[in-house]
Amino acid sequence: MKYDVFSLIPQVFSGYLGCSILNKAIENGLISVTDEPPYGGGGGMVMKPDPVFAAVESVVGTPPECPVILLTPQGRIFTQQDAQKFAEYPRLALICGRYEGFDERIREHLVTDEISIGDYVLTGGELPALILIDAISRNLNGVLGDPDGAFDDSHASYLLEYPHYTRPPVFRGWEVPEVLLSGNHAKINEWRRQQSLLRTAWRRPDLLQKAELSPKDIRFLRDQGIGPEPD
Ligand code: ADE
Repeated sequence: MKYDVFSLIPQVFSGYLGCSILNKAIENGLISVTDEPPYGGGGGMVMKPDPVFAAVESVVGTPPECPVILLTPQGRIFTQQDAQKFAEYPRLALICGRYEGFDERIREHLVTDEISIGDYVLTGGELPALILIDAISRNLNGVLGDPDGAFDDSHASYLLEYPHYTRPPVFRGWEVPEVLLSGNHAKINEWRRQQSLLRTAWRRPDLLQKAELSPKDIRFLRDQGIGPEPD
């Protein structure tokens, strides 16, 4: 995966990308991130179209041959499903805004996707771009140590992940659930699925509505006095 990032302050990227698990992915050639030279923001408070078009088109072609993603609080909210979808492309362009915003023609004629990372306003799109790079890269083969790592993630199937425990079996009197010490993998998997269902039902009932539930899942939830409502 090649990420082309367009930013007025490209130096913010090297710190995070140099230290996180992504550094290994960069060293192994699984991803590459290029900071494009700053495009002129001009004196005004709105980013002008000509330097933005010129910078993006000079790097990714005219018309651009990859998704061109604008990071903006006006975009659609980024989800795990977006991360999985974007991971299928060999290349992505990410445009980070500063100032008040962009000339509208950038939105209308240059970008293919407008993405927000949440309903709050940051000083620029650099942190959102790093969040996209991180969330997308975890879905690429070889980036995570465990090949199934991204498969089990919270949100991968609209379910939050089950709780994790490690040694010691008793810490300050708090015990690891017995089933996890049993060595019975069928039972452990069943417990994890049930915990995942319960967690999602309690914390994010909105997600549970979208999850693919088996008849067994539905029976379990009903036994706990939890929906989902029958269709
Ligand atoms: N730029 C400023 N705030 C943002 C947000 N919430 N998401 C994406 N880009 C942004």
